[in-house]
Amino acid sequence: MNLQALKEKFNQVFATDHTPRVFAAPGRVNLIGEHTDYNGGHVFPCALSFNTYALATRRNDGKIRLFSTDFEHKGIVQADLHHIAYDKQQNWANYPLGVLWVLLKREYPITNGFDILFCGDVPRGAGLSSSASIELATAVALNALFDLRIPHFELSKIGQEAENKFVGMNCGIMDQFASAMGKENHAILLDCNTLNYRYAPLDLDGICILLCNTNKPHNLIESKYNERRSQCEHALSQLQEHLPIKALGELSEETFEKYKEFITDPIERKRAKHAVYENQRALLAVQKLQEADLQSFGKLMNASHISLRDDYEVTGPELDAMAAAAWEQPGVLGARMTGGGFGGCVVALVKTENVDTFKNNVARIYQAKTGYKPDFYIAAAGAGAREIK
Ligand code: GLA
Repeated sequence: MNLQALKEKFNQVFATDHTPRVFAAPGRVNLIGEHTDYNGGHVFPCALSFNTYALATRRNDGKIRLFSTDFEHKGIVQADLHHIAYDKQQNWANYPLGVLWVLLKREYPITNGFDILFCGDVPRGAGLSSSASIELATAVALNALFDLRIPHFELSKIGQEAENKFVGMNCGIMDQFASAMGKENHAILLDCNTLNYRYAPLDLDGICILLCNTNKPHNLIESKYNERRSQCEHALSQLQEHLPIKALGELSEETFEKYKEFITDPIERKRAKHAVYENQRALLAVQKLQEADLQSFGKLMNASHISLRDDYEVTGPELDAMAAAAWEQPGVLGARMTGGGFGGCVVALVKTENVDTFKNNVARIYQAKTGYKPDFYIAAAGAGAREIK
């Protein structure tokens, strides 16, 4: 990223000579613990070194002007500080507007308008949380421009609320949390029931985290995601008639097996089973990582994919084809879909020496099966949302 060129772009787009401050917020990859966050379970994501950058200045009036280099053709999106409303047509701009809306609703002293130019390299629609990265880039920018002094942890909740209540995607806390709290070379074990977390070093000696993008856009994700969430909530409510629990994440596999028949709908029973087992898998996987047992970590990743495919049913033919192709390759410890599903990426642990062969073989097999040409990226665990000085 060429900062100087971006600043010039900012000045050209907004026809100003003010020098913007520069902020960045990363996308994330979740290593294991999928669809567990809103079920009060554990997740294990790391922030990526792909970021959304926000170049921002305060204005003297109440105008908001937003521009994204990814959507040049849409031009500047304008809004008024006192009339922030969701607009389906605006698409990407709803994420930063949503963050502003939450901040205003919480009565943070944002007294003036602002100009923000966004750009970045988080692949979009790839299940790597490009939306959370826009939200967090906005949140850190406004936090600094208006000296709001909101802790990062709280910024992630503001991002989540923007997505839940403004955009209408009923997501959990994982993506915004990872983007806000990421740390270089570390993944984060987050207990979404208590919001306690700890960093785990990613010492993957000779092994790469490889992201395999199906390039199948996951556009139907919102409705299906919200449906999975309410299925789990209903299953939980039936279990609660017999068990003193607040979340599915509190259950061990044994307790679940003992009480599962109280969930009357077989589909909902499968969904809940995934939530319970996946949570336990995530905990075990983190333990295996600590023991430097990456073989076992990889096997748990495979089991996670199978559960997401068969019980949670959020994979789809493209993710399944990608994972299956990955599993066959030499030097692969494990592979699974990551993120919400229905398209997006598979994350694979691959021995560095096998990466080139892996890419060639998987690309060939995957494309023959689905017609989509995949992309591959080697993931590095990067820092969380921040100002770049
Ligand atoms: C999306 C949501 C997250 C999480 C994952 C699935 O990325 O935004 O909150 O639920 O799906 O694990």
